[in-house]
Amino acid sequence: MSTDLPSQKVLDTEVDRRRTFAIISHPDAGKTTLTEKLLLYGGAIHLAGSVKGRRAARHAVSDWMELEKQRGISITSSVLQFEYLDSKVNLLDTPGHADFSEDTYRTLAAADSAVMLIDVAKGVEPQTEKLFKVCRMRKLPIFTFVNKCDRHGRSPLELMEELENLLKIQTFPVNWPIGEGKEFKGVYDRIREKVLIFDSDGSHGESVVDIDETSLDDPRLKSMLGQQKYENLLEELELLDMAGEPLDLEKVLNGELTPMFFGSAMTNFGVQPFLEHFIDMAPSPKKSHINIVDPTEQEFSAFVFKIQANMNSAHRDRLAFMRVTSGRYTRDMPAKLVRSNRQIKLAYPQGFMADSRTSLEEAYAGDILGLYDPGVFRIGDTISTGANIPSPDIPRFSPEHFAVVEIKDALKRKQLVKGLDQLSEEGTIQVFRQPTLGDMDAVVGAVGILQFEVLKFRLEHEYNVKVHLRTLGFQHARWVDGEGYDERAFERADYCKVLRDRDDLPIILFRNDWALHYCRGQYPKLQFLPNPPGTAGLAELHGSGWI
Ligand code: G4P
Repeated sequence: MSTDLPSQKVLDTEVDRRRTFAIISHPDAGKTTLTEKLLLYGGAIHLAGSVKGRRAARHAVSDWMELEKQRGISITSSVLQFEYLDSKVNLLDTPGHADFSEDTYRTLAAADSAVMLIDVAKGVEPQTEKLFKVCRMRKLPIFTFVNKCDRHGRSPLELMEELENLLKIQTFPVNWPIGEGKEFKGVYDRIREKVLIFDSDGSHGESVVDIDETSLDDPRLKSMLGQQKYENLLEELELLDMAGEPLDLEKVLNGELTPMFFGSAMTNFGVQPFLEHFIDMAPSPKKSHINIVDPTEQEFSAFVFKIQANMNSAHRDRLAFMRVTSGRYTRDMPAKLVRSNRQIKLAYPQGFMADSRTSLEEAYAGDILGLYDPGVFRIGDTISTGANIPSPDIPRFSPEHFAVVEIKDALKRKQLVKGLDQLSEEGTIQVFRQPTLGDMDAVVGAVGILQFEVLKFRLEHEYNVKVHLRTLGFQHARWVDGEGYDERAFERADYCKVLRDRDDLPIILFRNDWALHYCRGQYPKLQFLPNPPGTAGLAELHGSGWI
């Protein structure tokens, strides 16, 4: 047992006041804007400028890579921490580009709740839906922020219905918009039973907006809305009270009911009331579903959910992002890496500290550490100063896109092998070997196609190897388990491709659903698994699996 443990009282208070969440949304719904506005309310530890940097980097692969060149930005945008009143809020960044990567899903494994941001005119969009399903699977509490209410959009009742029918989640509007589009004036707070009128100061939401609090019978409301609209508002509110779901916090915590908020991030309308209710209702790490240990346990523990290498090209260093699960972290403290039973120093990288405004001297359950990785960490690793703790439930996905890596300059093979090795440890891609070809022509697999672009770019810029990725037309990857597997029999079929993973386990790529079903029928003694045998993972994301 280590010395210098925090007192139980300190732990209780610190853990209680933490809120760790991620925002999920379809590109363009306003995630960057909302993040910026949330930061207005708390002095963010990490540079708010990073958010601006990301804005320029949205969507386009080339832009994203441009951003990657400015290494500091990706570090600071991995987690934003700010204080609001008595709370300490950790906002986890999920990659903002249009394609999906496993990174996004892993990041959700480190969050206690999620904010689902939707555009009032567009409602639930495809990527919102996919991310929502990942949250649901993890039973994450979900809060919904309907954005862009300063523009004409769909009616709040219609959006509630969409959430209920499409996502199968009950809704409870915590606030209700007053007016819409250019006439969006404020919201009615159904919990506090107050009307909040926003006073725009013409600064386009760049500063904190004044809120005028009043009641529903304030005559100003009627003159602002006109008789008809005012009456409609009263009717809608009555309908909600009578026919709507009650606010059941237990359901919120189980992800069965989502509190809904209406606002406009750009004009900063509704952001503060949202933040306040969110902090009230969102779980602290104490009530989180992801707990692998009691977060108020005195010994320190954490798990690694993300590894990112070469963030600072001058140092070629690697950072391991860890979610603290119990105890207190202090700078450079020693702890045990549970997998290898080795003692390691949990060091903050120098450059990282110099970049941020405030140095993070200590951390508690719910906080995220970006620590120097001397090459010892793997995703899913646990670290502890006390007893060994179990591995967390980090989602693994079966890749759905495949390509052969062809090297342009054969003399660079060594760098290529090193690059593929390191990037697969980081989880950027999965690397497979063709059994008959040894180290030649590795096959890479990815969940999102953008991962290939990132791979090419990083191999070229960080390992100095130019590669061509020859796409393979296969849709499913399955690990093979069971008696009597004969690799050669499968090699002959053109509807599949035989490979080995980095632990030399056999894996087969199937061209389509038909091929997979056919082989299942032909080889009843074999199992075709979406993850390596014995690992708890998820089936594929986009295909016919669980989504
Ligand atoms: P993202 O990170 O989810 O991709 O979205 P982002 O915040 O970058 O917002 C996408 C676009 O939507 C931006 O416009 C942004 O200004 C706008 N936007 C965000 N919130 C609101 C809102 O509440 N109301 C309105 N009307 N617009 C909003 P853009 O033209 O693409 O970029 P910019 O030139 O404004 O930076």
